[in-house]
Amino acid sequence: MHSKTIDKTLLKEINKRRTFAIISHPDAGKTTLTEKLLLFGGAIQQAGAVKSRKIARAATSDFLSIEQERGISVSSSVMKFNYKGYEINLLDTPGHKDFSEDTYRVLTAVDCAIMIIDNAKGVEPQTQKLMEVCRMRNTPIITFINKLDREGMEPLDIFEDIEDKLQIECVPLSWPIGMGKRFKGVYNLGKKELGIFSPGYTPKDDDGVFIDDLADPRLDEMISETQAEQLRNDVDLINGASEPFDMDLYLNGTQTPVFFGSAINNFGVREMLDAFVEIAPPPGKRHTATRDVEPHENEFSGFTFKIQANMDPEHRDRIAFFRICSGKFTKGMKVRHHRIGKEIKLSNATIFMAQERNNIEEAYPGDIIGIHNHGTIKIGDTFTSKEPLKFLGIPSFAPEHFRRVILKDPLKAKALHKGLVQLSEEGAIQVFSPLLGNLHIVGAVGVLQFDVTMARLKAEYNVNASYETIDFSVARWVTCEDEKMLKEFKKKNESYLTLDSEGWLTFLTTSEYQLGFTMEEWPQIVFHKTREHNQC
Ligand code: G4P
Repeated sequence: MHSKTIDKTLLKEINKRRTFAIISHPDAGKTTLTEKLLLFGGAIQQAGAVKSRKIARAATSDFLSIEQERGISVSSSVMKFNYKGYEINLLDTPGHKDFSEDTYRVLTAVDCAIMIIDNAKGVEPQTQKLMEVCRMRNTPIITFINKLDREGMEPLDIFEDIEDKLQIECVPLSWPIGMGKRFKGVYNLGKKELGIFSPGYTPKDDDGVFIDDLADPRLDEMISETQAEQLRNDVDLINGASEPFDMDLYLNGTQTPVFFGSAINNFGVREMLDAFVEIAPPPGKRHTATRDVEPHENEFSGFTFKIQANMDPEHRDRIAFFRICSGKFTKGMKVRHHRIGKEIKLSNATIFMAQERNNIEEAYPGDIIGIHNHGTIKIGDTFTSKEPLKFLGIPSFAPEHFRRVILKDPLKAKALHKGLVQLSEEGAIQVFSPLLGNLHIVGAVGVLQFDVTMARLKAEYNVNASYETIDFSVARWVTCEDEKMLKEFKKKNESYLTLDSEGWLTFLTTSEYQLGFTMEEWPQIVFHKTREHNQC
């Protein structure tokens, strides 16, 4: 087991790391906010650098551009920047056309998330889905209500929407003064500081005006009498109605601190970032099948949560995205790849920066390293210095889109099977073999996964295939303690049942409504929305 002496340098490195992702619905302002954060962190020099990548990504539609997109998304998958002595890893959550199972899986590798809500739209569907994934590990969430420079919902109505749809209690740490044309700024409730909004001007650290007592007449001068009165009333109301910020409730995902601002105007961003580095947790302990692993343990350990293939058929290498959970990584170190029982040397791991990939000498818990390989690493694979561990909580997520695969050349059946199995191990697609019939069904969280799969089948396995639509939109892995009951269920639902690539029984159906109906009919059968890897 692990050594009891704690390495102080290791502890120091862990405590200054913050690893997070941004969750939002497309167009809420994720790219804009990312850019501002990277500018504050000095990782990019000018606005527009992240945006241009987004435009390139949005243009992906055919094989060639998918290939380009994959190149682009490797370098923007993890963005590392420094702020006030903290080393921050921002993991990208592809959310437009490139929304995929990877988007969900990235959230298994973070310690915290920033949720952006568009003040005119409130909670939107993609945010709801991503929150469901955060909830699986009770990931702490910091909320940023964006676009206050535009007209939108009243703050308390947004809170109600968030609390209703996401079951998380909102605690404002700042409060907006007006919105749209009347937007005057935000009042920081904790620091009692007023930030005045001026479009296009990025507030500096010392721009805030300390206003201890809102009765202060300076407030009327700075933001007008009517708006000062409104702010006094609002703050009275929130002080009476809102629960105080509670660190424990926030850390277990029950409460979310809320900030208001306008990302495009760089307003309210620094304020949130300052709070973020203070309250976002450093890398914490992680569950494995045998025990919990603390980050300050000397033994190196971590897991793979994403695999990116190089689309160039000449280079069949892959990059496995690996989250370090404990110990220190040093270049060239040997680790055990437990699933295949082999020792491997990590000689050319990559660390991700905003613009380019750099070869690294050392890395610490919370950091993400990229490991080159030729298809030997699967999603969920654990590497450690010695102890055979299996990290939990890096599952497959139930797909929402399905296609039947039609092979053009029947002689390629074996190659198709091999390709699909390998692609599913990399998390590119999920594959289901129906109990009845022998055509493969593929399932995805985002439809671009289908294009990537088809392109890779052709390029890497020389398989020509096409898709046929199929009337399923819901999948659940099913288990039952009572074997007789499971047998009965299988008999009655044979045409809806499949085995996934690891042999797990999976129920496919046409709608959530239909699923609900089946669940009611079979109360002893457990329907799972996620499935851990390599547990069969
Ligand atoms: P996303 O990555 O979440 O999809 O959102 P993105 O940052 O690209 O922002 C979506 C749109 O919202 C962009 O406008 C962006 O300029 C705008 N936006 C972001 N933050 C704010 C804000 O604080 N206030 C206002 N008014 N708009 C904001 P676009 O027209 O789609 O693109 P662009 O032409 O401005 O680049």
